[in-house]
Amino acid sequence: MIRYKSLFVLIATAFLCMTVAFAAGDAAKGKDVYQKSCQKCHGADHKGNPAIAKSLKVEFKDLAGKEVQAMKDEELKKLSLGPTGKKKPVKGVTPAQLDDVISYVRSLKK
Ligand code: HEC
Repeated sequence: MIRYKSLFVLIATAFLCMTVAFAAGDAAKGKDVYQKSCQKCHGADHKGNPAIAKSLKVEFKDLAGKEVQAMKDEELKKLSLGPTGKKKPVKGVTPAQLDDVISYVRSLKK
């Protein structure tokens, strides 16, 4: 009986780890994605690259700020990849990388 119990705990733990690994993005990996695919426009400080803001005539929102953090994940994903307003579609970001970068953006929350 005891053996079954520990087997159950083992399976449950493995299942839990898998769910967490697949469901949520990885913020550390997301940082790499950000640096590669987002930073040139959104800046290293997440507040936006002033030169890009000027040339596109947009105002970037601070990604760590309340307004962006209040958005739902789905909304953030849409805005992250564009196209929206003046933002052209961001290419070369896979769905998994998008999850990672969203986790990273969440990790910026003040
Ligand atoms: C080519 C420049 C560019 C790249 C690359 C880029 N963005 Fe954006 N992003 C913009 C612009 C411009 C806006 C503002 C759109 C508007 O107001 O019309 C914006 C808006 C956003 C917003 C909504 C908040 C705001 O400031 O309006 C989020 C969130 C966002 N981007 C996340 C990301 C993420 C995450 C990545 C990387 C996967 C990324 N962006 C890559 C240009 C870019």
